[in-house]
Amino acid sequence: MATVYAVGVGPGDPELLTRKAERILRQADVILAPVSVPGDASVAHETVREFVDETRQELIIHQFPMTSDKSRLIPAWQEAAALIADRVASGKDVAFITIGDPLLYSTFIYLLRIFRENYPQIAIEIIPGISSINTAAAVAEVPLAEAEEKMVVIPATAGIESITKALEAYETVVLLKVKPMYADILELLRQTGRTKSACFVERVGSARQKVLTDISDMAAHTPDYLSLMIIRQA
Ligand SMILES: C[S@@+](CC[C@H](N)C(=O)[O-])C[C@H]1O[C@@H](n2cnc3c(N)ncnc32)[C@H](O)[C@@H]1O
Repeated sequence: MATVYAVGVGPGDPELLTRKAERILRQADVILAPVSVPGDASVAHETVREFVDETRQELIIHQFPMTSDKSRLIPAWQEAAALIADRVASGKDVAFITIGDPLLYSTFIYLLRIFRENYPQIAIEIIPGISSINTAAAVAEVPLAEAEEKMVVIPATAGIESITKALEAYETVVLLKVKPMYADILELLRQTGRTKSACFVERVGSARQKVLTDISDMAAHTPDYLSLMIIRQA
């Protein structure tokens, strides 16, 4: 039975793909890779390039605009779901590739809902991936949680008030999507005395990986979209 596979490809290092992800990518008839800006390289596709044979497999680079505007996002999700459903109807296995894990702040979550509502007959299998959080903790040698500790993951775009409350309530706070809030977060670290217990990790698992633990190095840096922070209790 033709199947849609949601394949987590990890943070960007091809060696951080699971064996199952690699097998499915080699076998799939169609690979669908998301990109946010037309013409840009898809990080997910770059990560799996060596496992895909474009002479034998169809590669679709599909644009999902980076916006919270549902009137632009919903048509992009529906279009992707229709493209995939069309391939599945002709008996093809489709792998939708996603950075990190498919169920952690991923476009696939929206697609899954559309499939369940509009294409309930389609078989779906989700292959978990190594998330940016796990990889960042590993390269920075920072424990995420131990013993009775609690950890929380927050998109920094939730706002500085949410981050402040989280710092009070959890031993570990992981902030994703830090770019738009970067200056405010650094200021909060100074105000709360956390400058020595935070680390900034960008493009983890890639040749452009950067790990910063010194607040003045962080202040001198301009982050890109693929960056996160792990803040431990002081
Ligand atoms: C839409 S979320 C995707 C998370 C992804 N599904 C995962 O499991 O890691 C995008 C955010 O994840 C983080 N991220 C993803 N890949 C990253 C990487 N290679 N290095 C650092 N942060 C990354 C950044 O905070 C980025 O803004």
